[in-house]
Amino acid sequence: MAEWIPIARADECPPGTILERVVADRVVALANVAGVFHAIDGLCPHQGGPLGAGRLCGTTLTCPWHGWQFDVVTGRHGVSPMVRQPVHEVRERGSVVEVRFCDQTGGAS
Ligand code: FES
Repeated sequence: MAEWIPIARADECPPGTILERVVADRVVALANVAGVFHAIDGLCPHQGGPLGAGRLCGTTLTCPWHGWQFDVVTGRHGVSPMVRQPVHEVRERGSVVEVRFCDQTGGAS
């Protein structure tokens, strides 16, 4: 079972915002949607844009480079069903947000 890894303090990512972190050599975009945290791989599959520096509107994340859009809950691309960005489990432990990379253990991502 993959381990839970601290990614941020909860107050660093208020509702409606997103931030970029490097955790265990992976770039992760951590989003807060109405008080619920979601983690999605932070490198855009188009040309590697920084999704954690993108714009969050509801669950829709827009890449800052060319505007590709992803749902931070499912990882689905806004237009093409062929494109899906990995998403990761998130939990809050007190004031700390933790992430777990399920795709490294064969679990759902
Ligand atoms: S790098 Fe993200 S849309 Fe082009």
